[in-house]
Amino acid sequence: MAPIDQPLVDGHGRVATDLRVSLTDRCNLRCQYCMPAEGLDWMPTEETLTDDELMRLIGIGVERLGIQDVRFTGGEPLLRRGLPNIIAATKALRPTPRTAITSNGLGLKRTAQALADAGLDRVNISLDTTDPETFVRITRRDRLPDVIDGLAAAADAGLAPVKVNAVLLRGINDEEASDLLRWCMKHEYELRFIEQMPLDAQHGWQRDEMVTADETLTRLAEDFRLTPLDGRGSAPAEKFQVDDGPHTVGIIGSVTRPFCGDCNRVRLTADGQIRNCLFAREESDLRAPLRDGASDADLADRWRVAMAGKLPGHGINDPSFLQPTRPMSSIGG
Ligand code: 5AD
Ligand code: SF4
Repeated sequence: MAPIDQPLVDGHGRVATDLRVSLTDRCNLRCQYCMPAEGLDWMPTEETLTDDELMRLIGIGVERLGIQDVRFTGGEPLLRRGLPNIIAATKALRPTPRTAITSNGLGLKRTAQALADAGLDRVNISLDTTDPETFVRITRRDRLPDVIDGLAAAADAGLAPVKVNAVLLRGINDEEASDLLRWCMKHEYELRFIEQMPLDAQHGWQRDEMVTADETLTRLAEDFRLTPLDGRGSAPAEKFQVDDGPHTVGIIGSVTRPFCGDCNRVRLTADGQIRNCLFAREESDLRAPLRDGASDADLADRWRVAMAGKLPGHGINDPSFLQPTRPMSSIGG
């Protein structure tokens, strides 16, 4: 196999090796920080890449562009029927990438083992509360037991360490940070708190409503002794040891402690657009050239060009910041 000739480098010297692939914009929950209760238009089927089209692009990413990690997201990636095949095909690429999914955990009870058998390495499950009523308030669905079962199934299938992503919302679950951490430690899940970002489809994000990383740390420090751990690298989470260990908690301060300077990510949407940043206002279409018969080399070149223009930061803290048109549910975190 030819060595990676030109990786995905941008004008600020960052190299993208971590590909996030959104497999669908659909979801079986309606988390308030992500989707409206109803009325969101779905992506038209004919615009959605087929499994074969998707695999061609992932293959180019891994074999020509130096992608080392492939994370499948959504909406909810478990809603994509071909997921086990897509994972198996991704693991068959060389050099073999690491694979992960970011999922809400619904249905994972049934599929965790099959996904692990297909070669899935890791899961991140979203869980903002262990209180059934708060769960309904946040996700607008009464499905907490399914998520809890999904988490257990992932651990049983060896998809460890199972990570839990939580978003704290003021007046809803912000008092529950310590409870959630205790619960995760008890089950050996690795909890990370993510600051709420302006990516909801309904454009309802408000800075003063956001629970900041500092606030989360202050709350946790009331109940635990937190010791910062070094070695964040390009990982967005700042990790802390809890009490005397071995458990840790992560804080992802996307807004107040941005990590754009170390970003190694690139995103591919379910309709074949490259996004060089979660907050990018422009995308680069690979679907049209793909369907028009472009060669792998041509698609790789277009992808490189798409990355070269990556901006230095997300600019959320600039007065001129504009939220991207595409919501989180079709970018995929
Ligand atoms: N801000 C922060 N995190 C979000 N997520 C979804 N929407 C937002 C948002 N606006 C989280 C989900 C999931 C991951 C994809 O990102 O909870 O864990
Ligand atoms: Fe679905 Fe995830 Fe969005 Fe919640 S955050 S509605 S689980 S895609």
